[in-house]
Order: sequence, then C-alpha cells, then structure tokens
Amino acid sequence: MVSELPTEFNQHYQQLYGLRWLRLREALQAKEKQVLYAPFGGDSEGEIDWLAKTWWYIPSRTDWVQLRNQEQNLIYYVMDPASVLVAKALAVQPGDHVLDMCAAPGGKTLVLAQALGNDGRLDANELSAGRRARLTKVIQQYVPRSLRPQIFVRGQDGIRFGLAAKKSFDRVLLDAPCSGERHLIENAKELAQWKPKRIKSLAKKQYGLLAAAIEAVKPGGRIVYSTCALSPEENDLVVARALERKSGVEIVELPAPSPFAERTTLGWMHLPDACGFGPLYFAVLRRQEEESEVSS
Ligand SMILES: C[S@@+](CC[C@H](N)C(=O)[O-])C[C@H]1O[C@@H](n2cnc3c(N)ncnc32)[C@H](O)[C@@H]1O
Repeated sequence: MVSELPTEFNQHYQQLYGLRWLRLREALQAKEKQVLYAPFGGDSEGEIDWLAKTWWYIPSRTDWVQLRNQEQNLIYYVMDPASVLVAKALAVQPGDHVLDMCAAPGGKTLVLAQALGNDGRLDANELSAGRRARLTKVIQQYVPRSLRPQIFVRGQDGIRFGLAAKKSFDRVLLDAPCSGERHLIENAKELAQWKPKRIKSLAKKQYGLLAAAIEAVKPGGRIVYSTCALSPEENDLVVARALERKSGVEIVELPAPSPFAERTTLGWMHLPDACGFGPLYFAVLRRQEEESEVSS
C-alpha cells in the first residue's frame, strides 16, 4: 500500500522525476530486494551471475544468514546488491591502504576487506559512537580473525582526513550521509519536518567530505563517492562541484556495473522501480599523478 507523502516532499521529487515519480514512490515504500553477501566463503551454487560472492535473499531461507564457518564467523551479510557494486567500484587491490570514510554499519567495509585479503590496511571510520559500535561488531562477526589486525576502526569527522592525512590512501570510499529517501519515508516525524533546504545542507556537507577525500588520496589513487539519495544535488552536482574546484581530479568511466544500472551525467544509479533495490548512486574519481591543487 502507498501511504500519503507531505505535499512539499512530493512536489520536489515530482519535479525531478516527472511521471516516473509515481512508480518510484511506490517502489520506495515496497520491501527492498536484498542479497546475501558472503565475503569470506559461501556456497558456489546460485551465485548471482553479475555479482560474485552474492546470493539473492529469500526470506524463507533466513537460516542461511546464521551459518558460521570453522572460525565461527557469520558467512552471509544481508545488504543491498547495489552497495556491493559501489564498494567493488573502488577496485581495491591487495597491499592497498584504504579509507572507508563513513563506514557504519559496515556492509561496504566487508566488501573492501575481502578485496584486500591479508595484505594492506583498511581504516574504517565512523563519526557516530553508537554506529561505530555496530561497525566494530560487524567486523568481529564477519571478518576472519586472521584478517582483523589490518582493519582499524576510527572515530573522526571525515573532514579531518583532508587536513591531517593528505595524500595518504590508495583508495577512499566516501559513502556519504544523505537524504536516504527510502528510510526517510518510513520515519513519519522526520518526513513531516522535511524541507528542500535539508538537501542543500546535506549537499554542502557531502562536498566538504568529498573535498577531504580528494585531499586524502595519493596521486594516482581512486575515490568512490556514493549516496542513497534521489536528488542530483546530492549526487552528480556534488561531484561536478569537486571537479570544478579541485584541480588534478578526473572521472573514471566504468562499464555498466549491473544490467539494471542507469547512467547519470557523471556516474551510475540503481533505482528501485527498475530493479527493486537502491536508490544508490555512485561516481568514481581519480586523482591524477601530476597535480597542482588550488584550494576551494
Ligand atoms: C550512508 S551511511 C554509511 C553506510 C556504510 N558505508 C555501509 O555500507 O554500511 C553514512 C554514515 O556516515 C556517518 N557520518 C556522518 N557524518 C560523518 C562525518 N562527518 N564523518 C564520518 N562519518 C560521518 C553517519 O553516522 C553514517 O553512519
């Protein structure tokens, strides 16, 4: 059933998506299609053909989620398949020093940890203490004990990495705090207080974090910027502003990451009316080897 949404909220997204908004709002209120991601094991049968180590989540088979391997780690983490794709777009290589700037609860952290294997370092950062506790628990529950020493949970404001850790990381994932409309419309109190200026203030914060991510990555390094927001102001326009204001940064063009991915001006988007999961936007940036930064 589709419930009523506040007029101002409805109008904002209708303006953005036109007739599609009717389908989209219905899809946002429907149950999200999720997957079982098995970073460090899993059955080989039934793996999704466009997403390695990942199986469709079938509610009647929830017993799968509880399976543990010999090290007593949980095997299957339930998440949005587009989240797996976003973390994979960072193309982490063994030996990399990786920053997951806004990491809790930690689904994408698991994808990054899997790619790193037993060589490299992953700094999983989260500002909120409560959410950081959840992130720590996810790492303890899912990552094999032998790989945990190379994962460092940190509790800084992501902005600080731009000042205190310039050119330090091979890869930075910025899965930014955002409007998260799918969750927002489940929260009647927050939704009732919604104003378009909320998007503007988030976009400002997102740009600050992206500028810090660019500062923190080494020349030649890669950044993935992602959100689960629907407005271009929080997606392509944040990336466009960074490209405009920071020199020595370019977009990395990737092929479609899934059969459901939709092209945006600078990145890719998964929308729930098309595939049942998302919304999830991402763009990939690279800091050029020879850069001459101008400050923003
Ligand atoms: C979209 S969620 C991250 C989801 C996570 N990457 C995952 O895959 O499970 C954004 C997170 O950023 C955190 N956050 C908000 N502002 C932050 C900041 N300035 N620095 C670091 N983390 C921040 C929020 O508490 C929230 O947990």
